[in-house]
Amino acid sequence: MKRRVRKAIFPVGGLGTRFLPATKALPKEMLPVVDKPIIQYAVEEAKAAGIEEFIFVTGRGKSAIEDHFDHSYELSETLHKRSKYQELAEVSSSMLKPGQVAYTRQQDPLGLGHAVWCARNLVGDEPVAILLADDIILSDTPCLKQMMEHYDDNGGNLVAVMEVERQLTRNYGIVAPGKTRDRLIEVKGLVEKPEPEQAPSNLAVIGRYILQPAVFDHLSRFERGAGGEIQLTDAMAKLIGVQPFHGVLFEGRRFDCGTRVGFIDANIAFALRRPDMVDRMRDILRRYQ
Ligand code: UTP
Repeated sequence: MKRRVRKAIFPVGGLGTRFLPATKALPKEMLPVVDKPIIQYAVEEAKAAGIEEFIFVTGRGKSAIEDHFDHSYELSETLHKRSKYQELAEVSSSMLKPGQVAYTRQQDPLGLGHAVWCARNLVGDEPVAILLADDIILSDTPCLKQMMEHYDDNGGNLVAVMEVERQLTRNYGIVAPGKTRDRLIEVKGLVEKPEPEQAPSNLAVIGRYILQPAVFDHLSRFERGAGGEIQLTDAMAKLIGVQPFHGVLFEGRRFDCGTRVGFIDANIAFALRRPDMVDRMRDILRRYQ
């Protein structure tokens, strides 16, 4: 029987070295795309997909994330006094409800797989969604919701995939595909960051996953993979052939906010979708042509 996916892990323990010096004192996940920190996009996507429990795997210097999802009495009171009700509503809607959120700490950033493993006791013996805040997806139906619809039909393990240019395979986990039905692709193998000539396809895994709890058993072995890190990809690869494993070719546009150019691209794309900003943005962009 398929068990419902109620919990989501947000690994936010990384150092964000590609954004230094901005990330020296500020978590990468708090960098804003227009006026919302990137972590909020991931949390809203999870909420829209029906997630009820939000587990953050944090690290040193990440307390701004906890504050962001918490109540700020002084701010709320000041906004109220000044009759800034719209701002008040926005601040309130970003909060997570009491008991809905848990924080655990990854003391050493040993890799994404290790960050996920740190949440094992909070997840327990049930399937879990994992969202990497770096990836923001602009779509009509939120990406995780698209995956949930496939999960309801098929269960098992799911990763979000997208096509990338061949020469970029070395930046991603790449899928060895089997049978394909509509947007659902059987995963026969996973390779972390292969060179283009060794890549089994150009289907790249991006930062959205629905995984069965067996993944924690494999992560517990602490095996080091690409870059000497404990890789989630390696633990997921061990589930293939043992449990159903599919890729979902999601509909939408993904922005890699873990890179400087991707982050700026996301800011432009999201600003252009804002009715209050679009005209001014177009004027500004014309100046750069
Ligand atoms: P990245 O590979 O982007 O690493 O991690 P990073 O440290 O965040 O950024 P750079 O490369 O130094 O600029 C992908 C995701 O995995 C999380 C990150 O927070 C990010 O969401 N992560 C990575 C952890 O939580 N812990 C780790 O040890 C490594």
